[in-house]
Amino acid sequence: MTEERGKDRLLSVERLSVSFKGDDGLIPAVKDVSFQVADNEILCIVGESGSGKSVMAKSILRLLPSDSAVYSGGRIMFEGSDLLTMPYELLRKVRGWRISMIFQDSMSSLNPVYNVGRQMREVLRLHHPELGRGDLASMAEELLNVVEMRNPSRVLPLYPHQLSGGMRQRIMIAMALVSDARLLIADEPTTALDATIQSQILKLLMRLREERGIAIVLITHDLGVVHMTADRVIVFKDGLVEEEASKRALFAQPKTDYTKRLLNSMPRLTPRRDGDGI
Ligand SMILES: Nc1ncnc2c1ncn2[C@@H]1O[C@H](COP(=O)(O)OP(=O)(O)OP(=O)(O)O)[C@@H](O)[C@H]1O
Ligand SMILES: [Mg+2]
Repeated sequence: MTEERGKDRLLSVERLSVSFKGDDGLIPAVKDVSFQVADNEILCIVGESGSGKSVMAKSILRLLPSDSAVYSGGRIMFEGSDLLTMPYELLRKVRGWRISMIFQDSMSSLNPVYNVGRQMREVLRLHHPELGRGDLASMAEELLNVVEMRNPSRVLPLYPHQLSGGMRQRIMIAMALVSDARLLIADEPTTALDATIQSQILKLLMRLREERGIAIVLITHDLGVVHMTADRVIVFKDGLVEEEASKRALFAQPKTDYTKRLLNSMPRLTPRRDGDGI
């Protein structure tokens, strides 16, 4: 499967180093990290808490707090340009337009004082300024259908606190689909959800990858998520890429002790001989 996916390199992170200002100097969080994402593939980034996964993900769109984060080296090449040095006005055209991002904490990503319909219409209006309110509302409803939301017309007037975590996450995905982004970065998008809803959301992401041809960087600390979704996997440890492999190779023949320990700590993930997985 992996071999069939687009060979075209969409994103290339090259020797990226990111640090934070501390009282006694810079504290490194991402250290000389390189990896690529090809068109249409799902790359999972896995690693223990604090290993630098979110810092790495936020760096791609320069979303780290500018008063404390220092991009101390490297390049992030996307569609021929370096996102790290790109002027801010151009970067704004990449954010949400060419690269979309969804986070674990959908509650803080949605505005608590506006209902879902209004928030979706506002994002849609940015991309379709020519459309009137009625058309934007229909588009919002259509998008909720795409993300398999039940009763979209009943959901649009609701406020974020009136939704379940799974519903909020579907709305975040719907909003990420407004543009024709080529890359979706999803940082722990299902961690707060129960197993059934998690599986539905992951299947939704996989379906969108197939139908829309997008690439997905999926960050997780859950090897079950990796097993279900990944084409390729990067294992993060202490801000470094510890191991990079196809999913098959990672589960069959982990190279480093750290990855072996990760796998061993989740024995139920060992694939069965019939290949049926977890
Ligand atoms: N805004 C910040 N200011 C200072 N240090 C930070 C900031 N954000 C992250 N860090 C530090 O960077 C390191 C990596 O954090 P990061 O959030 O990337 O971990 P993670 O791998 O995403 O963990 P988790 O699985 O818990 O989400 C941690 O040591 C963290 O304390
Ligand atoms: Mg994180």
